[in-house]
Amino acid sequence: MKKLIIFSACALGISALSGCGPRGNQPNVEILQDMMVQPAIKAQRYDDFFKDGVSALVPPEHTVPVGFTPYKYGFNADLADKELKNPYAGLMTPEVLNIGQKFFESNCMACHGVGGQGDGPIAAKFPLKIPALVSDKIKGWSDGRIFHTITMGQGVMGPYASHVPQKYRWQVVNYVRTLQKKQ
Ligand code: HEC
Repeated sequence: MKKLIIFSACALGISALSGCGPRGNQPNVEILQDMMVQPAIKAQRYDDFFKDGVSALVPPEHTVPVGFTPYKYGFNADLADKELKNPYAGLMTPEVLNIGQKFFESNCMACHGVGGQGDGPIAAKFPLKIPALVSDKIKGWSDGRIFHTITMGQGVMGPYASHVPQKYRWQVVNYVRTLQKKQ
């Protein structure tokens, strides 16, 4: 009998806490109330706090995110080739190369191949021949030119600026150099 009472009390307690009731998906008991109600704006939602109602704000003109350097070369690959200097030049440490490898394998490998031979898994289906990155041509390119190609793309290869953050792009360049050395 005593067990039955304890069991019923527990069942009642659980169903009371589980929030089944007329308030739909609102929990009846807010155990941890922090952040339950907050003034955060939902992405893409109308919000009358701003005068035009648009909650996704455009950054003010002439501002840049912290740590971001605007890319000034546009499609001028020759100027980028001449002026861009690799801050990690010759720094083939595991820290640098592991980052490079991670971004290479998630963004470049599908086309250019694990070893940079131009034989990635989708290369056979690609309408054009994917160039190798371990070729004499790319061995002869400056680091800046490879950086520029990642940033702006080249011909049918699209830009990878949004896939490989600016601060990790040189590491990818260094990783390509290690693939070239394995040749
Ligand atoms: C969707 C397939 C694809 C992906 C992904 C891709 N590329 Fe390419 N890449 C190409 C093609 C195709 C070309 C040749 C483009 C042209 O010249 O028209 C090319 C050209 C290049 C070149 C110049 C090669 C040459 O011989 O002219 C470099 C360097 C390069 N890619 C590096 C990269 C790096 C680094 C990444 C990753 C951040 C990457 N690519 C991602 C397809 C790809």
